[in-house]
Amino acid sequence: MRRIAILASGNGSNLEAILTAIDSGQIQNAQVVAVISDQEAAYALVRAQKHKIPSRVFRRQDYPSREAYDRALIAFLKAEAIDLVVMAGFMRLVTPEFVAAFRNRIMNIHPSLLPAFPGTRGVADALAYGVKVTGCTVHFVDEGMDTGPIILQEALPIQPDDTVESLQARIHTLEHRLYPQAIDLWVRGKIKIRGRRCFIDE
Ligand code: GAR
Repeated sequence: MRRIAILASGNGSNLEAILTAIDSGQIQNAQVVAVISDQEAAYALVRAQKHKIPSRVFRRQDYPSREAYDRALIAFLKAEAIDLVVMAGFMRLVTPEFVAAFRNRIMNIHPSLLPAFPGTRGVADALAYGVKVTGCTVHFVDEGMDTGPIILQEALPIQPDDTVESLQARIHTLEHRLYPQAIDLWVRGKIKIRGRRCFIDE
């Protein structure tokens, strides 16, 4: 049984989608054993509680540096024997030490077709730029910002009357399908990484 920790800063709708996929058996041989947030008020924590999953808050202001913060996270995740770290709307850039501690075992989801529009405003930036197609990306986390090997990616057309909210909603729907799919592939050992490229053997 693979042990998953989910890191979330906000609403946690992706967390919910992953939990639903596990409950329904779409993802097997995996359990979410911890939910971690850097925000005490994150609704993701309420969702964790509803699902009876232990949660922990790590507040950045309680640590003297990013390095110290990440070291505390690493210690917790190691103590919990976590196999896969899943970032679901976790709005922090992790340190190289964190990446090294869980190399190729940290996933992130991003609301654009990377490498376009990295950062915390992927949806708004794509809309403002005027691209006609955007989408979402699930990738492994490396030392850069949203630069790691891409696992799954799916495109979505932008409509003339789209707002950030309407586009965000469609991207979320896509994310809720793609993230459980990527996690399932990882749990079943179907993702091979060669250089920057991920290959899925089904
Ligand atoms: C998701 O759309 C995710 O792609 C995005 O935050 C949202 C979290 O939603 N992540 C990033 O922008 C990371 N740079 P959720 O809290 O409802 O899962």
